[in-house]
Amino acid sequence: MINPNLLQLVVDASNDGIVIAEQEGSDNILIYANSAFERMTGYTCEEILYRDCRFLQNGQGDENARRQLREAIDNGRPARQIIRNFRKDGTAFWNELSIAPVFNEGDGRHYFIGIQKNVTEQVTARERIMQLEAELASARQEIVRLKTSPR
Ligand SMILES: Cc1cc2nc3c(=O)[nH]c(=O)nc-3n(C[C@H](O)[C@H](O)[C@H](O)COP(=O)(O)O)c2cc1C
Repeated sequence: MINPNLLQLVVDASNDGIVIAEQEGSDNILIYANSAFERMTGYTCEEILYRDCRFLQNGQGDENARRQLREAIDNGRPARQIIRNFRKDGTAFWNELSIAPVFNEGDGRHYFIGIQKNVTEQVTARERIMQLEAELASARQEIVRLKTSPR
């Protein structure tokens, strides 16, 4: 059995956010957040404990991502979604969120854990590639048009 202090060190050393939430009505309220979550969101633990993480969406969460998360939670299943979140200072970041149900034999209760990874660079790069591909396609079309148009 791993020493709980060692597990705590591991969780605190993580670069990804790690949170634990427990169900309260239709909410899953935070009962734990590691320091990476505090750094990523700009909120302190005191500010976010007992709140449902949806506040990070500032009311602008992608409908599809939210629905997938809600369905997974309602069915006690794991899920992974990339969703736009906002820090305390209002700046946006892309959060690759993984959630999974866990059962704690100690108190006989079900919890959800969440792992948050900041994937803003990857999402921005992908958007830029798509934009460049669209520009390239229209430049190619223009070349074809110029080649085939009568002089
Ligand atoms: C453990 C856990 C962690 C979560 N972390 C986040 C998060 O970091 N960002 C976010 O936008 N939603 C997060 N969610 C999802 C929201 O709390 C909420 O479940 C989701 O928006 C779907 O429910 P709703 O349609 O009622 O808002 C998390 C959910 C759970 C269970």
